[in-house]
Amino acid sequence: MLSLSFTIREARPTDWHQIYELYNSLPLEDLYMRFFCLHRFSEEEAKRLVTLNDHVTIVVEVAGRIIGEGSLYNTGEFSLVVAPDFRGYGIGTEIVKTLIEKAKQLKMKKIFFYVLRDNIPMIRIGKKLGFKFIEEEGELMGYLEL
Ligand SMILES: CC(C)(COP(=O)(O)OP(=O)(O)OC[C@H]1O[C@@H](n2cnc3c(N)ncnc32)[C@H](O)[C@@H]1OP(=O)(O)O)[C@@H](O)C(=O)NCCC(=O)NCCS
Repeated sequence: MLSLSFTIREARPTDWHQIYELYNSLPLEDLYMRFFCLHRFSEEEAKRLVTLNDHVTIVVEVAGRIIGEGSLYNTGEFSLVVAPDFRGYGIGTEIVKTLIEKAKQLKMKKIFFYVLRDNIPMIRIGKKLGFKFIEEEGELMGYLEL
C-alpha cells in the first residue's frame, strides 16, 4: 500500500466549511455511497454534522486540509468518505478503526454500516476488520459485535 502522512481527530465546529467543500468536490455517486440518496450537501448539513450530538464525527487532515470524514451515530450506524485523490492509502481503514475505538469507549455493543454490493473498497475494509455481512433489500449491512 502507498504511504502518506495524515492525522485523524474529532471534528470541531469550525471544520464545517472544509467538510462542506470536501462533499461538494465529490462526484454524485460518492455522495450516494455516503448518504444513500442523490443530493448535494448543503451548508446546513455540514454545520449539523459538526454540532449535533447524536453522533461523533472524525476528520482526516493532510497538510491542514480535511480530506476524509467519518461519523458514528448513537444507533451504532456509521459512514465515511475519503476524497478521491487520497484513496488507496489506508485512510478509510484507519477511519473505521478509529470509529470502532470510539464505539468501544461509548460502550456500544454493536456497530454497522450499509454498503452497495459493488462498493469493493468498503467491503474489503469491513472484511479485513472482522465485520460480518447480511443482505438487506439488495444492499449489504456489515456489522461488528464489540
Ligand atoms: C470506501 C472508501 C471510504 C475507502 O477509502 P480508502 O481510503 O481508499 O480505503 P483504504 O485505502 O483503506 O482501502 C480499502 C481497501 O479497498 C481497496 N481498494 C481501494 N480502492 C480500490 C479500487 N478502486 N478497487 C478495488 N479495491 C480498492 C484497498 O486496496 C483496500 O483493500 P486492502 O486493505 O485489502 O488492500 C472510499 O472509497 C470512499 O470514500 N468511497 C465513497 C464513499 C463510500 O463508499 N463510503 C462508504 C459508505 S459506508
